[in-house]
Amino acid sequence: MINALAGCRVLVSAGPTFEDIDPVRFLGNRSSGKMGFAIAAAAVERGAQVCLVAGPVSLPTPVGVTRIDVRSAAQMHTAVMAQLSIEHSPCDAYIGAAAVADFTPQAFAGSKLKKMPGEDTLTLELVKTRDILAEVATHAQRPRLVVGFAAETDDVVAYARGKLQRKRLDLICANRVGVGATGFESDDNTLLVLGHEGFQRTLGPAAKTEIAGRLLDLISERLITERLVTERLR
Ligand code: CTP
Repeated sequence: MINALAGCRVLVSAGPTFEDIDPVRFLGNRSSGKMGFAIAAAAVERGAQVCLVAGPVSLPTPVGVTRIDVRSAAQMHTAVMAQLSIEHSPCDAYIGAAAVADFTPQAFAGSKLKKMPGEDTLTLELVKTRDILAEVATHAQRPRLVVGFAAETDDVVAYARGKLQRKRLDLICANRVGVGATGFESDDNTLLVLGHEGFQRTLGPAAKTEIAGRLLDLISERLITERLVTERLR
C-alpha cells in the first residue's frame, strides 16, 4: 500500500558484523545484507523515513535511505541505540535483520598474531556481545513494533518462538539456513513470520525484494491498527 508508512520512522539493521582479532584477521559470517537492504527499500517505498545501520557489505544504498556503516557488533549497538534516543523523533519500528556476531574476541591483538613454533592449536577467548535486539525491545523509547530474525538449521518454529518470547519481540522472521538454494547469499528466500497468539504467516519462496514488500505490508497493517486502537482509547 503506497504511503502506508507515511510519517513513520523505521530503523533497520542489516548485514554481518566483523569482529577483529588482529589488524589482518576477523571473525565474520555469511550474511549478504540483501534481505535487510530490501526491507529498507520497501519501507521507503511505503513512505517511511528510513535509517539503515549496515554491517560491512558493498551493496548500494537504496534511494531515500539514510545509511550508517558499521563494522563490529559493538559499533552496531552504539549506532542503533543512538537512533532510538533521538529527541522528538521516536522510531515506530525496529527491524533487526543483521546477523550480529554473538561472540567477539575478548582482546584485540594490536599486531599480527604469529604462529608459535611447536604449537598446533590456537585458542581464542571470546566474549558474548550485547544483544541489540533484546535491548531495543526493553528500551525506554521502545519502538511500537520490534521485529527480529532467526536463522535456524533445524527446529525452526520452536527456536524462533523461543526467541520471540525471550527477546520480547512483536514478530520474528525465521528462515531455514544451510539447506537448498535459499538463505544467506541467495537472491531468494522463504520467511516464516511468527507473532503472539499463534500468529503465523509464510512469505515466499520468492525474491528477497518481493518478500521484503510483503513483510512491510504486514508491518504497516500492524502499525496502522495499533495507531487506530491508541487513538480510539485516547
Ligand atoms: N541479534 C542482536 N544482537 C546480537 C545478536 C543477535 O540484535 N548480539 C539479533 C539479530 O539481529 C536477529 C536476532 O537477534 O534479529 C537473532 O537472534 P540470535 O539469538 O542471535 O539468533 P542466532 O544468531 O540464530 O543465535 P542462536 O545461536 O541462539 O540460535
